[in-house]
Amino acid sequence: MRYLLNESDHSVVNLDKLTSAWNPGSSIPANLHNGNYFFEQVNICDAAELDRVFQQHQPDAVMHLAAESHVDRSIDGLGDFIQTNIVETYTLLEATRKYWLSLGAEKKAAFRFHHISTDEVYGDLPHPDEVEGTLPLFTETTPYSPSSSYSASKASSDHLVLAWLYVPMVYLLSLPIVRIIAALITSQRN
Ligand SMILES: NC(=O)c1ccc[n+]([C@@H]2O[C@H](COP(=O)([O-])OP(=O)(O)OC[C@H]3O[C@@H](n4cnc5c(N)ncnc54)[C@H](O)[C@@H]3O)[C@@H](O)[C@H]2O)c1
Repeated sequence: MRYLLNESDHSVVNLDKLTSAWNPGSSIPANLHNGNYFFEQVNICDAAELDRVFQQHQPDAVMHLAAESHVDRSIDGLGDFIQTNIVETYTLLEATRKYWLSLGAEKKAAFRFHHISTDEVYGDLPHPDEVEGTLPLFTETTPYSPSSSYSASKASSDHLVLAWLYVPMVYLLSLPIVRIIAALITSQRN
């Protein structure tokens, strides 16, 4: 978001329901007044609110980052992960599809839905001390093998996004999946 706001003339509409996971330190302040920045306190499980936001802001692209992402909490709060990472992805995909179908041909062709995923959907790599020779790495062809409730729910959301490519009338919608490597993000934060 900061890159888009500082380095481009695009507008950004930030939707966040401000869960307990919301980090005011790393987020753009909700009350920032900037001609290119709009904040909407919206739960993306709320289809009616999503319709309103789509109609009001008429976006050219959606970046789906919202998630329940703290693995430790998935042990005693599994329901939040199912609701947030799976049901919210479905709701956002459906709201996006509805909006996308209303666009003219040119905007339809240019529209993008970026789904932000995680390398954890591939499971676990061995510790370097356990490996003799070259450390195996994940690649785009590594089979899914989630090993936590978090990674299982993110894998489910990946599959939903991929399945939406085959929903009638949506086959032209571009749905790239970006898998972030956890260690990289963690080191950026420190
Ligand atoms: N941080 C990492 O190391 C890492 C690594 C791999 C992948 N990812 C992925 O990147 C994305 C962002 O991760 P993060 O670490 O910034 O997460 P985060 O938990 O810091 O932020 C997620 C945000 O989503 C919001 N949110 C959750 N449910 C919502 C809902 N229903 N409606 C609206 N907003 C909602 C929360 O309030 C929070 O501000 C996630 O999809 C995550 O799975 C993160």
